[in-house]
Amino acid sequence: MKVTVVGAGAVGASCAEYIAIKDFASEVVLLDIKEGFAEGKAMDLMQTASLNGFDTKITGSTNDYSKTAGSQICVITSGIPRKPGMTREELIGINAGIVKTVATSLIEHSPETIIIVVSNPMDTMTYLTHKVTGLPKNRIIGMGGALDSARFKYRLAEALEAPISDVDGMVIGGHSDTGMVPLTRLATRNSVPVSKFISEDRLNQVKEDTKVGGATLTKLLGTSAWYAPGAAVSGLVQAIACDQKKMFPCSALLEGEYDLNDICIGVPVLLGKNGIEKIVEIELNEAEKAHMQESAAGVKKTNGLLDV
Ligand code: 2OP
Repeated sequence: MKVTVVGAGAVGASCAEYIAIKDFASEVVLLDIKEGFAEGKAMDLMQTASLNGFDTKITGSTNDYSKTAGSQICVITSGIPRKPGMTREELIGINAGIVKTVATSLIEHSPETIIIVVSNPMDTMTYLTHKVTGLPKNRIIGMGGALDSARFKYRLAEALEAPISDVDGMVIGGHSDTGMVPLTRLATRNSVPVSKFISEDRLNQVKEDTKVGGATLTKLLGTSAWYAPGAAVSGLVQAIACDQKKMFPCSALLEGEYDLNDICIGVPVLLGKNGIEKIVEIELNEAEKAHMQESAAGVKKTNGLLDV
């Protein structure tokens, strides 16, 4: 199993590291436009192999896509990250051009690949990838919900004063500060609804903290986060590579599901060897449905800025 990660910045490198540590891929190619950067990151990571006990071979390439040929899964992390005070949507001008070039170059060398899009604004970049590659919809996946759900579980565990492994929950909708729909009603602690343990006010606070999870870190770090995004991507890659049929909320092209059309937005999907093997439609209440429609309107507005 060969995996390519485009963009050797913090998210791309962290993603390559987690994939390697989990040791399910034979090869990870890191590619970056900055001369020598991906090669350097790959060499540094390879020097952790004997320490961390993995056999995955990590190689680097300066913009030479022939090195990525035959990749079963390609991850696009390229583009600029947001700075404190910026929204993900503000990155569209620069990142759209980059994602377009990267996606086209990847397909040239790996026509059968499955693409995972991480670059922001992620839902719109996933939609753009569909438009420029024309790949079947199961083979393009946007990574946002897996990360937002991990942040949701972190906040839930904090509020419940519980270990994170006790907690389950999911965030659907757009990967943006206003677009996320954390499903507090369905969140549980060992199958018991979390509302049994914490007040509605506290639960609303969890919801709000989750929605600005990325912005909070960007303010603290001066740039956007990388450990949780990298770990979330590696989870998606592993589910596909190992044909796990695992459920994650991911940005998927919808054709009527959740009453939405011609949009990529976060919904629960099953991931296996064919990429998105099923879009899971769950019963939402009226408030959640309304929030989802509002979120979709936001994503469509950003999609409207694309030149496709
Ligand atoms: C984040 O939320 C990278 O968008 C990503 O941290």
